[in-house]
Amino acid sequence: MVAVCPGSFDPVTYGHLDIIQRAAATFDKVIVAVLRNASKSPLFTIEERKELLIEVTRDYPNVEVDSFDDLLINYMKQKQAHVIVKGLRAVSDFEYELQMASLNRKLSSDIETFFMMSSTTYSYLSSSIVKQIAQFNGPVGDLVPEAVEKALRHKFDSIRK
Ligand code: PNS
Repeated sequence: MVAVCPGSFDPVTYGHLDIIQRAAATFDKVIVAVLRNASKSPLFTIEERKELLIEVTRDYPNVEVDSFDDLLINYMKQKQAHVIVKGLRAVSDFEYELQMASLNRKLSSDIETFFMMSSTTYSYLSSSIVKQIAQFNGPVGDLVPEAVEKALRHKFDSIRK
């Protein structure tokens, strides 16, 4: 069965990676799909976010990285995937995820959303928190893989120049 892990991944964190790894152990194939046209103004370009995802998932042969610029369900159909995998960190994630899962099922009844509880180690973690810490040169080594830590340093150095 093919599962899609959709998101902004700006940038990928250990929290995302935990969900991706567990999805890869559960499903035959996992497509990590980066949303192109998000209304949020991202720090990293789509290409940069994809490159980092490819780098940090390279030990998982059944994980593929892609991007999409469409309704998620249209993308799922194009990929012949029927399962969306999302991580839930806390109750605060629940309402938004319930809305998305319900809407997606209304739009396409053969698509199921599977939720995984984030590992408690990463329940407080988000890309925006990581960006806030990195922006002020704070330590993010426990929150993101080394390649992402490096990319954050370069990005903020180039912004400061
Ligand atoms: O990492 P994020 O920003 O929380 O991910 C949100 C994402 C990409 C999963 C969500 O915004 C999405 O699926 N967008 C695609 C457009 C779409 O299908 N919207 C309707 C969902 S009900």
